[in-house]
Amino acid sequence: MAHSTISIFFFFSLCFFSFYLNAQTTPSKQLQAFIFPIKKDGKTNQYYTNIQFGSNSTKLNVVIDLGGNFLWFNSVDYFNAASSYRPILCGSRKCQIADTDGCILCISDLPVPGCTNNTCSDFALNPFTGTLGFSGLGEDALHVRSARGAHVQYTVDDFPFQYSDPVLRTGLVGLAAGAVGIGRTGISLQAQLASAFKIREKFALCVPPAGGDGNLIVGETAYSIPFEEISKSSLFTTPLVKNPVSISGNEVIGNLTHEYFINVKSIKVGSKTVLSLNKTLLSINKKDGSGGTSIRTVRPYTTLHKSIYKALIKAFVRAAASKNIKRVKSVAPLGACFVLKTVTSSKTGPQVPTIDLVMNKKKGVFWRFYGSNSMVRVSKDVTCLAFVEGGINVSGPTTSIEVGGYQMENHLLEFDVASSKLGFSSSLLLHNTTCSKFGSS
Ligand SMILES: *[C@@H]1O[C@H](CO)[C@@H](O)[C@H](O)[C@H]1NC(C)=O
Ligand SMILES: *[C@@H]1O[C@H](CO)[C@@H](O)[C@H](O)[C@H]1NC(C)=O
Ligand SMILES: *[C@@H]1O[C@H](CO)[C@@H](O)[C@H](O)[C@H]1NC(C)=O
Ligand SMILES: *[C@@H]1O[C@H](CO)[C@@H](O)[C@H](O)[C@H]1NC(C)=O
Ligand SMILES: *[C@@H]1O[C@H](CO)[C@@H](O)[C@H](O)[C@H]1NC(C)=O
Ligand SMILES: *[C@@H]1O[C@H](CO)[C@@H](O)[C@H](O)[C@H]1NC(C)=O
Repeated sequence: MAHSTISIFFFFSLCFFSFYLNAQTTPSKQLQAFIFPIKKDGKTNQYYTNIQFGSNSTKLNVVIDLGGNFLWFNSVDYFNAASSYRPILCGSRKCQIADTDGCILCISDLPVPGCTNNTCSDFALNPFTGTLGFSGLGEDALHVRSARGAHVQYTVDDFPFQYSDPVLRTGLVGLAAGAVGIGRTGISLQAQLASAFKIREKFALCVPPAGGDGNLIVGETAYSIPFEEISKSSLFTTPLVKNPVSISGNEVIGNLTHEYFINVKSIKVGSKTVLSLNKTLLSINKKDGSGGTSIRTVRPYTTLHKSIYKALIKAFVRAAASKNIKRVKSVAPLGACFVLKTVTSSKTGPQVPTIDLVMNKKKGVFWRFYGSNSMVRVSKDVTCLAFVEGGINVSGPTTSIEVGGYQMENHLLEFDVASSKLGFSSSLLLHNTTCSKFGSS
């Protein structure tokens, strides 16, 4: 009896010992997270990151597309060194996960990225121009940096992407080779990292104003100070809603089921609810997918359905007038502009009436925009409300509110895709910090 107790004890301590060794060499998998630096281009208002891809670790700038399906790019540097490129074959498991639109037969003397036979294929979308490119998907090595400690590099050998036609790059910030999707698909960046490293499907996004730095952190990690505290105790939480309707036919402008929607119930300006909003527009129409509120990094400013836009402008102009802020001629596409010197400034930017997107009035869940997120300076003397009318050149169903990049800047946003929840902070300026300080401990 004593003998077997000892051997059991010995067995357990061996297990413990090997687990301990393991933990020393690879950081605890449950806490693994990966970091992607974000910059904003001031001219195009696009947010992009840098990735290292393929056997030669080609460095590529790619635009961040929050509702995008997958990684796509075109790059001669990668092409010339693409020795480890492999097509994703039709009928393969990866093809099923990708949930794609077809199978392509492309025959060339030598199979090359973008032209291989019997290949699982889908549409890549340029989210700025609406240009679509249908071609085969492949996989290659994505090199990622741990968000923890010494930023050790890891490699995902079979990361799916599309090597796209060069025409798809038109409209992207000059130095970008393509875009990386972090939408609700099986082959988006966070979905693939979650499956490769067995971590929770979750990411935190902190986008900077032009000239600043921000980060995308995929996975779970301990953030740096003061973000750990902000994340733990001062985030508002709201459900991420799924739009049940994708777009089909010729009016494809992306796939609405892959975008992140939130349930905005009302809008406040100053502390007053904007009364004349058409409530039907605020919810998603289950028949055609129109309406509702999405969050999109590829919109420079929040776009609003015409009637919501008009109501917001009216309420804002009135509230601004009561603060003696003087209105001047509008500067298209911005519909409400003011004399800069009639606006005082504060820690949270120009002191103008706040704008709240209210998700849950009872529980006090609302996303508040102060001047730093609501006003944009267009000239030496003029500052304008940074919201625009949406749906102007869109033929398909339109989303009523698309929260754009300018409004997201200097807010910590945690997309917990696994449990379909969005956590968002108030303006980081209120916490005496900015996205440039967002990192991990
Ligand atoms: C791979 O990278 C190395 C080092 O950067 C470079 O010298 C080499 O030319 C690259 N190979 C190709 C095929 O581009
Ligand atoms: C392309 O793939 C199809 C389906 O697997 C196969 O029938 C055909 O022979 C292939 N063609 C070439 C040229 O490899
Ligand atoms: C949109 O995505 C959903 C879920 O991935 C898919 O079932 C649907 O076919 C897609 N629609 C289009 C038009 O690609
Ligand atoms: C509200 O919007 C819906 C959807 O666009 C429209 O059908 C309806 O007529 C609008 N209601 C009013 C009162 O304008
Ligand atoms: C809509 O399209 C027209 C013609 O292509 C273009 O001139 C106009 O600037 C576009 N408007 C917006 C708001 O994108
Ligand atoms: C931010 O700084 C101000 C002034 O230094 C201080 O009073 C305030 O408590 C700080 N707020 C936070 C959240 O740290």
